[in-house]
Amino acid sequence: MPQSARPVVHVDDERFKVTEWRFAPGAETGWHRHGHDYVIVPLTDGTLKLDLPGGHEAEARLVRGVPYSRREGVEHNVTNGSDAEPLAFLEVEVVDDVTALRRRATMEALMAAFNARDLDALMACMSEDCAFQSAAGPDAEGALHRGRAAVRAAYAAIFDTFPEAAWTEGTHMVAGGTGLSTWRFLGTAHDGRRVDVRGCDVFAFEGDLIALKDSYRKARG
Ligand code: NI
Repeated sequence: MPQSARPVVHVDDERFKVTEWRFAPGAETGWHRHGHDYVIVPLTDGTLKLDLPGGHEAEARLVRGVPYSRREGVEHNVTNGSDAEPLAFLEVEVVDDVTALRRRATMEALMAAFNARDLDALMACMSEDCAFQSAAGPDAEGALHRGRAAVRAAYAAIFDTFPEAAWTEGTHMVAGGTGLSTWRFLGTAHDGRRVDVRGCDVFAFEGDLIALKDSYRKARG
């Protein structure tokens, strides 16, 4: 029974996981699949023996201090091919940005709540000190609605104006504290007027919740 390589975790946060792997001669990691992109920084010289899917084998030369990168999905068993020298490397994994994933989930929930015409679900996505700048209005910002009561009233007014409304073709992305949703709005107003326009929301976050929803849409000429 071969000896196991020994992992020592140095960093484990929402963005990085850094693990030092120490291999006695002949020790192996066991089969594993990498769920994240990663960088290997050899701490020793040496030769890794790689067992690959399909019964294939390969060797990787480690040169101390010379890093290399691999992408998610690599599957292998890694063995110290030497029968005399221990070897070690640092594995730096870029793990998912958990904050960005949660903020993205909030943006998806907000669009779902608009389509469900659910005011409580909408407000559950908004922070305590939230604001909404609607696309149309008298100001450079459109129209500013500040505070939970004002935002809720402005969302309710959208449902009043459009007895039929659908936000479709949603895409969502997050960069730092800013979110961007794009969509195509299809609505029918009380007077039968039909609206079909693309638009977007630029969001500012407070934690996982939306502090500002700043809306833009195309003006058909
Ligand atoms: Ni590996």
